[in-house]
Amino acid sequence: MHTPVTTVSVTVVEDEPMTQDVLVRAARLWQYECQSASTAEQALELLEQNLTPVVVTDLRMPGRGGLWLIRQIRQRWPQVGIIVLTAGHDPEATNECLQAGVHHYFFKPIKLDEFRHVLETTLRNYYAEQEQHRIECRLQHAVRRQTHRVRTTFLSAITSLSQAMEERDPYTAGHSRRVRYYALELARAIGLEPRQCKLLSLAAQLHDIGKVAIPDAILHKPTNLSEEEYQIVQQHPVIGERILRPVVRHQAVLAAIRGHHERMDGTGYPDGLRGEQIPLLARLIALPDCFDALTTSRAYREALPVSEALAVLRDGAGTHFDPDLARVFLQLAPRLEPKDSRSGLLCR
Ligand SMILES: [Fe+2]
Ligand SMILES: [Fe+2]
Repeated sequence: MHTPVTTVSVTVVEDEPMTQDVLVRAARLWQYECQSASTAEQALELLEQNLTPVVVTDLRMPGRGGLWLIRQIRQRWPQVGIIVLTAGHDPEATNECLQAGVHHYFFKPIKLDEFRHVLETTLRNYYAEQEQHRIECRLQHAVRRQTHRVRTTFLSAITSLSQAMEERDPYTAGHSRRVRYYALELARAIGLEPRQCKLLSLAAQLHDIGKVAIPDAILHKPTNLSEEEYQIVQQHPVIGERILRPVVRHQAVLAAIRGHHERMDGTGYPDGLRGEQIPLLARLIALPDCFDALTTSRAYREALPVSEALAVLRDGAGTHFDPDLARVFLQLAPRLEPKDSRSGLLCR
């Protein structure tokens, strides 16, 4: 028993008028909306104007022929179902058709039952694939949205954690926020593109997140650190990278966090990178990081005046800091006024 299909379009491509007439009449009788062409070229023009879910085509026609048409359809509209009508049993042509992505073929003389059956099967497959595609798109969209949600939630939780960690100690409160502010001003001054600025913003905000794993007794120690304690503090860029790796997709952000204590002369940590081996975003964070440390109070000394802090940065240009960035920052820094400048940082 055939299921009636209504208002479904089929394109019939056949150069023999009689055969074309039989196919079109039959298809219309079964309630298919039908358009027809006598050559492959004409069919392609028709399909460009009105694409149908199914194309029924002869193989041997004047002009470029059925195989050319099949390849054109596959290339432009891979979703379209193709049925081939062939005059005799030609294994080579059949093989070529299958390779070109034909769904069904049947032989002349036409048996209407067979035609109806392949038409229905091809259409059913077409709609099933369309439905499958729609479901996949919806699923992908839902997964993307959910992943984004999880990432955003995780990042805002981790930002809160980083802030809470800083706020617990008056010497570190607001550090990440100020470093972010200075770094973005520096980035704007060198004309860093907006996409990179976004990544920089995230990296600067979270650059010290690895300190959550460092004991308070070491982090907040008001006197000099022992060699062993200093080695523990030096792990914070690596720990930060590790914490964020599962949720931060951008390698540049992770590399900036890992590299914010590297120095131009290779004496920094954790990897001892030199010069331009140090990622640009890490170099953009290093200057503000140190500037903020110097211009805010520490447990064992008062904040330096801006002019003295800038002298320290000037001395470090080329050895500690990127000299080009340092030049820009030295010009810029005296004019910068972070919103939250109430407290300081123990910079290690
Ligand atoms: Fe740090
Ligand atoms: Fe820092």
